[in-house]
Amino acid sequence: MNNRTTRALRRSGALCAGLAALAACGAGGGSVSSTGRGPITYVAGADNTGTVQAILDRWNKLHPKERVTFVQLPTDADAQRQQMIQNAAIRSDAFTVLSLDVVWTSEFAAHRWVDRLPEDRFPLDEMLTPIVATGMYRGGLYSVPASSDGGMLYYRTDLLEQAGIDRPPVTWAELKADCAKVRKLPAAKGVSCYAGQFQKYEGLTVNFAEAVNSAGGVVTDAEGRPHLDTPQARKGLDFLVRSFKDGTIPKEAATYQEEDARRAFQSGKLVFERQWPYMYPLVNKKDGASRVAGKFAVAPLPGLSGPGASSLGGHNLALSASARNKATALDFIRFFTSQDTQRFSLAYAPAAPTYKALYADPRLVKKYPYLPVLKQSILHAVPRPRVFGYGDVTAAVQREAFAALTGAESSASALRNLQRDLQELAAGK
Ligand code: GLC
Repeated sequence: MNNRTTRALRRSGALCAGLAALAACGAGGGSVSSTGRGPITYVAGADNTGTVQAILDRWNKLHPKERVTFVQLPTDADAQRQQMIQNAAIRSDAFTVLSLDVVWTSEFAAHRWVDRLPEDRFPLDEMLTPIVATGMYRGGLYSVPASSDGGMLYYRTDLLEQAGIDRPPVTWAELKADCAKVRKLPAAKGVSCYAGQFQKYEGLTVNFAEAVNSAGGVVTDAEGRPHLDTPQARKGLDFLVRSFKDGTIPKEAATYQEEDARRAFQSGKLVFERQWPYMYPLVNKKDGASRVAGKFAVAPLPGLSGPGASSLGGHNLALSASARNKATALDFIRFFTSQDTQRFSLAYAPAAPTYKALYADPRLVKKYPYLPVLKQSILHAVPRPRVFGYGDVTAAVQREAFAALTGAESSASALRNLQRDLQELAAGK
């Protein structure tokens, strides 16, 4: 155990002590031994499917003395992060188990806002490898994957078919050419070509990084060094900037978060949309809310000269360092992240499981036809920068990308500024 870890564990008041505790210390050594049993809270973005409460009800039935209460935060990822950081800053015990966006693990672990967890208590080898990596920081496990996420291209099968197109586009040029054909159809009157999530929030970082990665570039390398002043990054950002300019992407998409983009797609306003899997069954509902139920499918994201690469999304459970009843919390994290719970929640609503077996289950694939495309999306996905100061990095990306998309700045100068900002952040200036 290095000094830093030892200090962190002392501060959290829970050093692994003695042989008995070692069993819970994990392979990397030095996990927190969690003590205390009683009521806890589960803190996550608002859930409009009812699945989360159903999972918590299951737990509460089995553990009446260790009940868990759902603390619902806003759906906007940035707002969730802010509230969790504020809770950590005042060392409050109001939040116990945190549903962290996968991109926050390093930041929360480095600040010791969350405890290190015992690897050997979770069946991590049964999960897809890139997903497990999102929970690790400096060789230790700090958050356990509960759900993953991969971006996919949703497309209107009916419109493509009517335009004589027999497969979804693989490149951006094909996407634009397909739209030109579709737009000539009487059925496509008033329909725009493409949208993603371009409001100035975490979703913009996701979409910007996907554009850069899908043109063969990287936002930051494995050491956290930025590489944005490159022809590849420029081509990626230019795809978005030009698409806004030439109307491929409708202007209002600059205000879209996930739900806005979903509403646009399900009301028949788009031929193509970049979106997470949660949207699939919602848009397929036959209750009249969606005008495109049964008229769409999913494909891998397109790229500059071949298939693109999604940003890796998802949520992991972590244990707030200032929480009470940590032994209960650890058991709850095991329960919530188990394969059994993921199966249970798939019976309720769509999700992106973390377990390999669930992607290979024929009954689930029949119910959720997006699963094979999603698995590929996750396996080829690129993580967003894994850096200590992720909050500052994403704020800089959002600022410069938004300026370029709205025409306030050229792509070249936005990328130059971003390169400089990220370099400064990496150097700790
Ligand atoms: C989804 C993803 C998450 C991402 C967010 C952006 O919730 O799972 O990783 O940061 O969307 O809006």
